Amino acid sequence: MKKIQISPSILAGDFSNLGSEIKRLEQGGADMIHVDVMDGHFVPNLTIGPPVIKSLRKYTNLPFDVHLMISPVHKYIKNFSDAGSDIITIHPEATEDVKDSIDLIKSLGKKVGLSLNPDTPIEIIENYFEEINLVLVMTVYPGFGGQKFISKILEKIKNLKKIKDEKKFKFDIEVDGGINFENNNMVINAGANILVSGTTIFKDNNGDIKKNIQLLRK
Ligand code: DX5
Ligand code: ZN
Repeated sequence: MKKIQISPSILAGDFSNLGSEIKRLEQGGADMIHVDVMDGHFVPNLTIGPPVIKSLRKYTNLPFDVHLMISPVHKYIKNFSDAGSDIITIHPEATEDVKDSIDLIKSLGKKVGLSLNPDTPIEIIENYFEEINLVLVMTVYPGFGGQKFISKILEKIKNLKKIKDEKKFKFDIEVDGGINFENNNMVINAGANILVSGTTIFKDNNGDIKKNIQLLRK
């Protein structure tokens, strides 16, 4: 079985101190840094863009796992790549031509992810399984941190894992939204191998990031 990786979302961190928050995550054992980019259009919230990612780049060598919740996404992909993203994940609904966007991300030498909203079926992305590096399964409706995990998505994770195993695809299965110490084992058992978490990592156990990362990994 693949090692479980933890991708803490800086969305739950202190935005006036993101550089030191990233250092704390690195020291706490994070495997990568999840960066939530929202445009107030594809999702009803606004966060950060390429200049902030660029300025954070110098604080860590950990991969930046950049989750783009912006539409239309295609014309911004290069900016996010240049800013220092390592994994660029897009939502299939946010681009005119999914294949074009995948090819662009790959041509920039970055890993590519496709994200499934709670209501988006697996079939929407099944033609791309051979060429992508990860599927980001949303376990909340994207837009905000601190939401409640939608447990019926466990079924979707299991189905995705089944397809992956049957056809021997190599993509990672990453889960995002409301992940905590009650559901981490459920998502891992369902087939997820990368867990995103914001609120649990930054707020639980009085903000003991190291402990929270260790506990989530189990
Ligand atoms: C939701 C974001 C998530 C979220 C995770 O739109 O994509 O990454 O910030 O935060 P928690 O763990 O608080 O749900
Ligand atoms: Zn996210």
